[in-house]
Amino acid sequence: MSDEIAQLFENNRAWSDRMQVEDPAYFLRLVRQQSPEYLWIGCSDSRVPANQIVGLDPGEVFVHRNVANVVTHSDLNVLSVIQFAVDILRVKHILVVGHYGCGGVRAVINDEKNGLVDNWLRHVRDVRDLYARQLAQVEDFSWQHNRLCELNAIHQAANICQTTVLRDAWLRGHDVTVHAWCYSLENGLVSDLKISARSYEEATEQTHNAVARMFWMTGKRRRDQSQD
Ligand code: CO
Repeated sequence: MSDEIAQLFENNRAWSDRMQVEDPAYFLRLVRQQSPEYLWIGCSDSRVPANQIVGLDPGEVFVHRNVANVVTHSDLNVLSVIQFAVDILRVKHILVVGHYGCGGVRAVINDEKNGLVDNWLRHVRDVRDLYARQLAQVEDFSWQHNRLCELNAIHQAANICQTTVLRDAWLRGHDVTVHAWCYSLENGLVSDLKISARSYEEATEQTHNAVARMFWMTGKRRRDQSQD
């Protein structure tokens, strides 16, 4: 076994020992059942650890991560995660968590060629194309990058609200809310992107409002600057 992998086993034993000393019933509780109230859909980025960011223990958040936190209607993987989380685990909240500085989003803005993953990132590119005119308002790379990280999280959350899983769950009266957030690698804080949808209609309205607010604020800042 390579030294790197041996180290992981070493870390694992140390962690297991520490947990059992700190809380002897810890593993026993987790073995019995998981009853998470949250489903986290985030980026695979190694700097965005779901549980730690929101201070939740194992057993408290059901997690799905992929490159650039994409939710697309033909991805059986993410759809199965959502269906299992909603119908079986009965989570109360679905958190779509984008992050500033996302490499997947940056690749889209830069038109980078990274191979197969470019096909996956095409979904983020669709979001970029949808707002090409608004994003071109400000010729600043990091501003465009940040806005697309937010827009992507908002649109992926909206996609969840359009799935048969959520629409059927809401029809049955299941109380589940879909949120869009964006996490900052710089200070560890999460921003609320003002999507907290409890119905398909709410998702559509909130998406419209969130995007309108985002670009209205940009326009205002530019008008203020031009008056200086
Ligand atoms: Co990312």
